[in-house]
Amino acid sequence: MAPPSSWPPWLLLLLLLCLAAGGILQSDAQPDSKGFISIDCGYTGTSYVDDSTTLSYSPDAGFNDAGTNHNISGEYNRPLLSRRSQNLRSFPDGTRNCYTLRSLVSGLKYLIRATFFYGNYDGLNQPPVSFDLYIGVNFWASPNMSSWSDPTGGLVTAEAIVVVPDDFVQVCLVNTGAGTPFISGLDLRPLKRTLYPQATAAQGLVMFGRLNAAPTNKTYIARYPDDPHDRIWYPWYDAEKWAEMSTTERVQNIENDLFEAPSAVMQTAITPRNASNNIEFYWDAKPKPNDPLPGYIAIMYFTELQLLNGNDVRQFYVNLNGNPWFPAGVTPQYLSNSATYNSSPSRLNRYNISINATSNSTLPPILNAVEVFSVIPTTNIGTDSQDASASMSIKAKYQVQKNWMGDPCLPKNMAWDRLTCSYAIDNPSRITSMDLSNNSLTGSIPDALSQLPSVTVIDLSGNQLSGSIPPGLLKRIEDGSLDLRRRNQQQGSMNNMTAVKPQDLEAMSTASYGGGDDDSLRIVDNRRFTYKELEMITNGFQRMLGQGGFGRVYDGFLEDGTQVAVKLRSHASSQGVKEFLAENLVSMIGYCKDGEYMALVYEYMAQGTLREHIADVKATNILLNARLEAKIADFGLSRAFNHDTDPIPTNTLVGTPGYVDPEYQATMQPTTKSDVYSFGVVLLELVTGMPAVLSDPEPTSIIHWARQRLARGNIEGVVDACMRGAYDVNCVWKVAEIALECTTQASAQRPTMADVVAQLQECIELEKDRAAGFYTGGSSSSVDDPSWSYGGYASGQFTYVSNSTAFEMERRVPTVVTGPAAR
Ligand SMILES: *[C@@H]1O[C@H](CO)[C@@H](O)[C@H](O)[C@H]1NC(C)=O
Ligand SMILES: *[C@@H]1O[C@H](CO)[C@@H](O)[C@H](O)[C@H]1NC(C)=O
Ligand SMILES: *[C@@H]1O[C@H](CO)[C@@H](O)[C@H](O)[C@H]1NC(C)=O
Ligand SMILES: *[C@@H]1O[C@H](CO)[C@@H](O)[C@H](O)[C@H]1NC(C)=O
Ligand SMILES: *[C@@H]1O[C@H](CO)[C@@H](O)[C@H](O)[C@H]1NC(C)=O
Ligand SMILES: *[C@@H]1O[C@H](CO)[C@@H](O)[C@H](O)[C@H]1NC(C)=O
Ligand SMILES: *[C@@H]1O[C@H](CO)[C@@H](O)[C@H](O)[C@H]1NC(C)=O
Ligand SMILES: *[C@@H]1O[C@H](CO)[C@@H](O)[C@H](O)[C@H]1NC(C)=O
Ligand SMILES: *[C@@H]1O[C@H](CO)[C@@H](O)[C@H](O)[C@H]1NC(C)=O
Ligand SMILES: *[C@@H]1O[C@H](CO)[C@@H](O)[C@H](O)[C@H]1NC(C)=O
Repeated sequence: MAPPSSWPPWLLLLLLLCLAAGGILQSDAQPDSKGFISIDCGYTGTSYVDDSTTLSYSPDAGFNDAGTNHNISGEYNRPLLSRRSQNLRSFPDGTRNCYTLRSLVSGLKYLIRATFFYGNYDGLNQPPVSFDLYIGVNFWASPNMSSWSDPTGGLVTAEAIVVVPDDFVQVCLVNTGAGTPFISGLDLRPLKRTLYPQATAAQGLVMFGRLNAAPTNKTYIARYPDDPHDRIWYPWYDAEKWAEMSTTERVQNIENDLFEAPSAVMQTAITPRNASNNIEFYWDAKPKPNDPLPGYIAIMYFTELQLLNGNDVRQFYVNLNGNPWFPAGVTPQYLSNSATYNSSPSRLNRYNISINATSNSTLPPILNAVEVFSVIPTTNIGTDSQDASASMSIKAKYQVQKNWMGDPCLPKNMAWDRLTCSYAIDNPSRITSMDLSNNSLTGSIPDALSQLPSVTVIDLSGNQLSGSIPPGLLKRIEDGSLDLRRRNQQQGSMNNMTAVKPQDLEAMSTASYGGGDDDSLRIVDNRRFTYKELEMITNGFQRMLGQGGFGRVYDGFLEDGTQVAVKLRSHASSQGVKEFLAENLVSMIGYCKDGEYMALVYEYMAQGTLREHIADVKATNILLNARLEAKIADFGLSRAFNHDTDPIPTNTLVGTPGYVDPEYQATMQPTTKSDVYSFGVVLLELVTGMPAVLSDPEPTSIIHWARQRLARGNIEGVVDACMRGAYDVNCVWKVAEIALECTTQASAQRPTMADVVAQLQECIELEKDRAAGFYTGGSSSSVDDPSWSYGGYASGQFTYVSNSTAFEMERRVPTVVTGPAAR
């Protein structure tokens, strides 16, 4: 089956219906309406809605192209374990493996959260000792799984707030030789630029602790929808030391709130049980691999929850290590958020926080919530973004696996094989050469190669690439700035432009495939070219790609670099003008009817085959399904013959076995149902990835082949293996059923095209519903195990100081490292 990139856009659209849930295509790997991306790593089913958060979680196939899926071991699958934690993706191969999150806003701030639950998935009873996480080319964290077997713990979370420089971000797991990296869940949440001003282009915040003081329900973990930013706030309380306060009134954010703590968190607070005591807690700095004494940022949230009597004052100081940290006294306002924080990180070994009432205060201090972050530098800049995206599209186009993961040039020891890069101190790295030789690559030479301006050598030898050299590259070869090697390469032949369906000239020239309100359905604008323009496009009809009865096909390039095939009608052609002009609308970019000259300009399809070509023919129908229902029959074969007095061109359909309605073949009387039949064949091709006629072991029609398997309920045996299970089974079933109905032998039993459209629409609606959260496929609870509340924030560990002696809250903080501690 041809790779999806060679399919015409409308075909992808249709396929999308089924793949949307599976996520093979980027389209599923998109943020939702809130800009959230929520990935259940290692999960292969369809997207599902998480019960507790109401967020839709996607399988990870569209974000990542390596690793293996695993389920955790049964004995670790506890009743309240979130669905995300029940499976994971591990990366036994390669040093660096990455998830690519796309469609972001360059320069915006994002919260990125990864979760890890080992659960003895590999039966080794030994989690990786350590591996590294990177955001882009900057070190993020090394999750520590050492308390994986804790009966109520084991869930490790890493979270960061970073400014993302590009319109994508890669989250990478790096094998440091101390065990196989794995990941259970990955979330991305956009934040307003103004939030968390301490997170800048040069500095990221790594979560150490995020605590909701004294929630009324001690197992309540606040997150989305209570927190619109889906931060996770863990309960924090100590009945012995602290009294609790709460209100049911809503707490408001202030104007230009820098942190927007959610009301649900701010509605509760702690205060010293003994009103003459202080609120005290501490945390210890935790060294990082490249930073033995990292800086810390603390944010303390205060709001008054009581309506005070006239004479009452609540005012307090916040002190760090015995010194006033915020010497101006804090007077929290009634039901109004306020936060006290340090703008630049402090670098200390120990942070003793004490909150004491001022001498004027008649009431003890309160505290509603705390966040503590360590800072990481994000000053490493990735490879030049143009080079990076060009190389990623080349990787995608050629399905290059190797170690082509993450940033192409950085860090140096993980740079992609067979690339060389230049490393300048002040500028982003550039790619200087690219060796793609001996890769059995097929298809065209991608124009993306010309988007690598610093590349001086490209080696394409030993592949079966076809088509011509994109003009950008050609220009650089000519001016001597590029050495393009393509030894052993066969000169490819152009898509065989067999004549297709006669069309109505007026219909063609007025049909708007680009119009409408749905941009995603924009295919091409039919453009009228002059003959002179064609000359320019084809560089004077320099390179002929093929020849047929109609005339010749030439290679060309539009102004924007799009490679096209220009099919110039020969004067001697027996083909009627209308037929010629009406061929294959969908991949047509435009046409020329300039005096005696007549030509069609097509999207160039270097990998085109007869099969794909014929599928294109049917594209007209599918387009119509989606947008122009009423005109389906008009554009079909039947109309062409019913309303056209031209003789039936014998080369149009008779020569394409497998697609042609058997009734039409027998009677030579085409009906609208002939189109339905052909359309059904195309649907089957889409689902199966098989040609219309299978040759092995003996010639069989795809209809027969699929019918047999589907009759046995074997949808997996029918669906294209390239989809790797990443599809919505219901949707594929539906499409397969429609296809079988369409290809019923007796035309009377076939549905009408309108029926087909309606049924496909149902498929679309199903997908829409699913995306909107009405899908009820999943039943298992995804409420995070409350007893893990504390294990959930992997990076921090709170410790109490009772009178003068500190004791760790081990029962409540099973998995984690170190962190702010109450005392
Ligand atoms: C994981 O479990 C699910 C549900 O039981 C199952 O469908 C899936 O095949 C399992 N995956 C692996 C890799 O074992
Ligand atoms: C992980 O945490 C445990 C327990 O706190 C500690 O002993 C171990 O050294 C840590 N491992 C790494 C690699 O930091
Ligand atoms: C406390 O919160 C948990 C988790 O949100 C919930 O399951 C439980 O029902 C709540 N308990 C009460 C008494 O509201
Ligand atoms: C409250 O704290 C003060 C000062 O630490 C102490 O003198 C007093 O006895 C405490 N009261 C109670 C009831 O524990
Ligand atoms: C923090 O407090 C503890 C106990 O109150 C004390 O021993 C320690 O010296 C303090 N550390 C700093 C840096 O002030
Ligand atoms: C509060 O604590 C600070 C720092 O320890 C101290 O300087 C100040 O005197 C205290 N204020 C009161 C009223 O106790
Ligand atoms: C305490 O009250 C006095 C008298 O009203 C005032 O002068 C002083 O500034 C107040 N102190 C603080 C810290 O607000
Ligand atoms: C590609 O194959 C050719 C011929 O076998 C060989 O000379 C060349 O070294 C190979 N290149 C690479 C990068 O393996
Ligand atoms: C196109 O296909 C026809 C029929 O299979 C064949 O005869 C012709 O040679 C092909 N033309 C090109 C340019 O491949
Ligand atoms: C520690 O504090 C508790 C109350 O907070 C008190 O009952 C106890 O006597 C104190 N112990 C010491 C040694 O001060």
